[in-house]
Amino acid sequence: MPNVLLLGGTTEASALARLLAARGIATTLSYAGRTATPRAQPVPVRVGGFGGVTGLADYLRQHRVTHLVDATHPFAATMSAHAVDAARLAGVPHVALTRPAWEPASEDRWTRVPDIESAVAALCGPARRVMLALGRMHVEAFAAQPQHHYLLRFVDTPERLPALPRHSLIVDRGPFTVMGDSTLMQRHAIDLVVCKNAGGQGAEAKLLAARQLGLPMLMIDRPAIPDRMEVYRPEDVFAWLGHDAGPDAERGV
Ligand SMILES: NC(=O)c1ccc[n+]([C@@H]2O[C@H](COP(=O)([O-])OP(=O)(O)OC[C@H]3O[C@@H](n4cnc5c(N)ncnc54)[C@H](OP(=O)(O)O)[C@@H]3O)[C@@H](O)[C@H]2O)c1
Repeated sequence: MPNVLLLGGTTEASALARLLAARGIATTLSYAGRTATPRAQPVPVRVGGFGGVTGLADYLRQHRVTHLVDATHPFAATMSAHAVDAARLAGVPHVALTRPAWEPASEDRWTRVPDIESAVAALCGPARRVMLALGRMHVEAFAAQPQHHYLLRFVDTPERLPALPRHSLIVDRGPFTVMGDSTLMQRHAIDLVVCKNAGGQGAEAKLLAARQLGLPMLMIDRPAIPDRMEVYRPEDVFAWLGHDAGPDAERGV
């Protein structure tokens, strides 16, 4: 029987955990520990880093993991690179459950930048009202462009306020809707949205809201990740494990 280690921290990982639990597949879900109050899960959860590639390879061996599934966020490039190397070291089959990057529609007004540093640099110029849809990470880097008013949205209340002289902070974990994000952008008179090209539907509301309102977006491209096998749906992971996901898979049960 499979014994799966599922690297999580995403909606897709939670959906897969539900599917595997419903089918009685032994699974441990791993969180980095960035969120103070992670969602309750139907499988055992472990929290915290493994200690690099060798730490993860040791974990795989010690816990007799038969399959490693990397369902981390497309921007969690370090963890994903470690997963590739550790799986190879430990001789454990490995797959990534991920999502295709978003592509701009013809009416979208995107400026693409390769990384956070370039996004900060692209914000030079007069003061604007910017929705910084990046979560909690990397926000401090935007202190280098203090002229803007930033709208921030975090999953948890931060222990200390972000060091941005002009900002509004909303604590909300979603799911977000196009109508909700559109109202939020209008209420805060946003004139630019900065976000990562996460892909997928879970984080798409802000993209569709910006499109509806005709707002420009500063889109941060994904970091590079070593070659690996990738699938896009939880039921594809189930098939990879050698099982037929069955009719309930579409509902993610
Ligand atoms: N980056 C984003 O934009 C973003 C957005 C939404 C959710 N997340 C989630 O937040 C977590 C951290 O993201 P990140 O960008 O900080 O990752 P990262 O930079 O790729 O990883 C940094 C280190 O954190 C540990 N780590 C990351 N994910 C882990 C997991 N699922 N289980 C155990 N340890 C983990 C690993 O430590 P060791 O080297 O000690 O093993 C890794 O080397 C991930 O689970 C990711 O799915 C990230």
